[in-house]
This record gives sequence, C-alpha cells and structure tokens, in this order.
Amino acid sequence: MTQSTGSSGRDTTGTTATGTGTGTAGPARPAARAVAGTGENLRFLATHTLPTFARGFINPRPRMVRASAALRQPEWSAATLRSLRDRHGGAPVLLRGLSGPLLVLLDEPELRQFYSASVRDLAMDAPDKNAGLTVLEPSGVICSHGELREDRRRINHASLAAGDTVHPCAKEFLAVVAEEARSLTARAVLDAPEIQRSLSRMCRRIVLGDAAADDDRLTAWLSALRSEANWLGRRRKQARAARVLYARADARIAEYAAVAPAHTLGARALTRSDPDGVLDRIGQTHHWMLALDGLAPVVARTLLLLAAHPAEQDAVLGEAAADGRDMPRLRACVQESLRLFPLVPDLVRVTRAQTTWRGVPHPAGTAVLVPALFHGRDRDHVPAADLFAPGRWLAPEAAADLRLAPFGHGAAACPGANLGMLLSTAVCAEVLRRHRLAGARPTLPAAGPLPRIVDTPGIRLRLEPR
Ligand code: HEM
Repeated sequence: MTQSTGSSGRDTTGTTATGTGTGTAGPARPAARAVAGTGENLRFLATHTLPTFARGFINPRPRMVRASAALRQPEWSAATLRSLRDRHGGAPVLLRGLSGPLLVLLDEPELRQFYSASVRDLAMDAPDKNAGLTVLEPSGVICSHGELREDRRRINHASLAAGDTVHPCAKEFLAVVAEEARSLTARAVLDAPEIQRSLSRMCRRIVLGDAAADDDRLTAWLSALRSEANWLGRRRKQARAARVLYARADARIAEYAAVAPAHTLGARALTRSDPDGVLDRIGQTHHWMLALDGLAPVVARTLLLLAAHPAEQDAVLGEAAADGRDMPRLRACVQESLRLFPLVPDLVRVTRAQTTWRGVPHPAGTAVLVPALFHGRDRDHVPAADLFAPGRWLAPEAAADLRLAPFGHGAAACPGANLGMLLSTAVCAEVLRRHRLAGARPTLPAAGPLPRIVDTPGIRLRLEPR
C-alpha cells in the first residue's frame, strides 16, 4: 500500500511521470508519493542511519562492530525496511536521511532503474558519502563528476583491467599473495589482525611495489584518514590536519609509484595519459589501497563460513590443493560471503536532474539509497537468503541478479571486482592449500539462519595441517 500523505506528501507539480527514468512527466493525475511518517522516520533513523554512522561508514570501528553483532542490529534495520515495503506496497519511500531527503528503493523494478541510470543523472558523489570519501580520496573517481569523472573512470578501468577476469599482471600479483600468505599459516591460530597485516603488505606491494612492503606507517596514515572519513566531514576542526596527512600520504605514494615496476597498479596508472595534468592518476590509488586493505575482512569471513560448513570446506579443499588458478567453488564461497556480509551494505547516489520513480517525479538533489545488504538477504525473494549456499553463484544467471550486488551493477559497478575476486580467492586458497579449518570464533550456526553481521575483528580460526 502506498501511504497517501495529503498535500504535504503528494507531488505538487501536478504532473505524473509516464515511465521510469529521467524527467519524464505527463499531464494526468499525480501519482501518490510514498512518504514516511514521523514514526517511520524515527524508526529508520534509530535502526539504520545512526547505527551505520556509529559503526563507521568507511573504517568500521571494532567496538561498534562487536556491539552491533551482539545486538544483531542489522536485523532491526531489515525489519524496518520490510515494514516500509509492506506498508507502501513496494514503492520507493521518501525518508529523512542524515542531511536531507532520501529515497529508499525497496523493489526490483527500481533496482533495475537504479542500475541502468546514467552516472550523470544518478551521481556517485552524494553529499554525506562524498564528504567522507573526500577526506581520503579527494580526486578519486568516486568523488568526481561530469567529463572529469569519465576520464578518471577510464584510468581505473584500464589500470585495474576491469574487463578481464584475470588481470594481465595476475602472475606477479599471485606471486606476492603466495609469499605474503606464508605468515598466515605459520601458527595454529589465525586471527583477523594477522590477516589484515598480511593483506596490507600485499596491497602495498601490488599497488606500489616491493619497496613499499614494510611501510606500515603509510598504511597507518591511510587508516587514520579512513577513520576521519567515518565522520562524513562533520569534524571541521580535524579537517585541516586530515588535508595535511592526505598530502603527506599522497607524496609518499607518488615517490613509490614513480619507480615502481611496470606491473604494479601505481605504475600502470602513470602510463595513462594526462595531457592537462588534471586527472590526478596517483590520486586514484588511494581508493585502490582502501579496497585492497578491505579484502582482509572478506577473506576472514569467507574462512569463518567455511569453518562453520565442513561439507563446503571439503568441497573446496581439492581446488585449493590443485595449485591452479581455476577455483570456481572457492570463488563462489567468496561471492557468497560478500552476499551475506557485503563490504558496501548501502549504495548511495544523488540525482542531478529530476528523476521519476514509479510514476513520481523527484527533484534534482534527492539522495537515493539501495540497501544492498537488505536486498541480498531478502527472505521474500532470495532463496535460502540467510544460509551459506555458494552453489547459487555457479548458475550463469547469478551475475545478472540485481538483488545480489556485492560489486554493484551498471555504469558505476566496481572496476576492481575481478581483481578483488582473484586476490581474495587466492588468499583463501593459500590458507587451505595445506591446512583445514578445524574450528573458529565467533561460532556460526552450521544449518540455521546466519546473522547479518559478525564480529570480524574478533575472528580466530584454528588451522590443522592436512
Ligand atoms: C571484494 C572486494 C570488493 C568489493 C565487494 C567492492 C565493491 C564495490 C562497490 C559495491 C562499489 C560501488 C560503490 C557505490 O556504488 O557506492 C565499488 C566501487 C569501486 N571499487 Fe570496488 N569492491 C571491491 C574491490 C575493489 C578493488 C580491489 C578495487 C581496486 C583495486 C576497487 C575499486 C573500486 C573503485 C575505483 C570504485 C569506484 C567506481 C566508480 O565510482 O566508478 N574495488 N566497489
């Protein structure tokens, strides 16, 4: 049911859009807007917006993650979103976001519209998100718009070889993975901090070369910027210090990249042409380092899931031992771990023109949210939504399923998806090559519904030689 909100809630333009897409408006009756009432807004704020902010949008705060996991907080958010969908008949619902109107998309047709929209109309640099990301990547593609964004996207696409399942420098990257993963199996217990240390070394070597391997200080600087980004630009006093720190980190990255071997991502970025000097090729690497460091929780959660599902673990052990690159089952496990615990649980955009959603026009400047975690776990539409069922990713149609979007879809989809999958699968394989996971903390149910969040910083895995 769509909530009729009287004059304040109804579109007042006197027009009704005749289709989905940008700015189409017809002469007939206005379509009813689904606008959240005060109670719904408060509930959304309390169960979704504030907990997301408190947990940390960019650099999750370990204590808050632990608290969210203990309280099963994302379950409350899902209940809120389900209730909004039931009450408004699946229509996009206009709510109050942190700093203005926020249109929340709850049904498949709107997901289709969202992912097929042009990035010019449905832009990546939504205000709150942009205020956060600007702290750590002011000239990153994700913070850019217009022609400049397109040019920067091309640098990302080419350097990351976005269109290739196997990156042309995979051989060099996988050699780094094999070397660095040795530390992961050196002890009988593997914990999340060790996985993070190892992935951060891989990240520095893959982006900047071996000279950067030991530069923990650089990672600490980047991590401090990411923590500041969690505040979404709201801490004005800290902004200047963050700009100074960004400049220092950027200069350090540029020094490494200038002499890095040709296969590294930094060197690859520098081969792209920038005749007017405005693209900031090195500036693109800040997001890559964020994303590559972000593979550590992906690896930790995939291994945690495998520890809790011995039959799945048995199915992938053979692949891992085979020493090849083709590991479809293990790859599917990584994808499934990303569906269950997405790295980016909310996709946010901002409209740059009037857009029409389910017959209702919304003005330029409206923030639009796809709650990706909610859709990927949607019990009404996704079979075995709360179970670990990696086999679903082996079906050819899985990649096109818009509810399953660990990497997004369409024009703004992640250009590092193939590289991220290659590397995280390879790290898991290195751990499982000669070991099996004999137990893990936190304990996950082997058969029942899985929680929507786990205490990732607290993950501990028990390894046994096999
Ligand atoms: C498993 C790992 C990864 C996941 C789950 C992931 C997910 C995503 C998602 C969902 C987006 C879209 C964000 C949005 O719509 O707001 C995105 C964007 C992006 N990702 Fe990834 N990513 C991963 C790894 C990587 C890696 C390894 C790189 C590069 C080394 C990378 C580079 C990027 C870039 C540059 C964008 C911005 C694209 C644009 O604005 O056009 N990602 N990623």
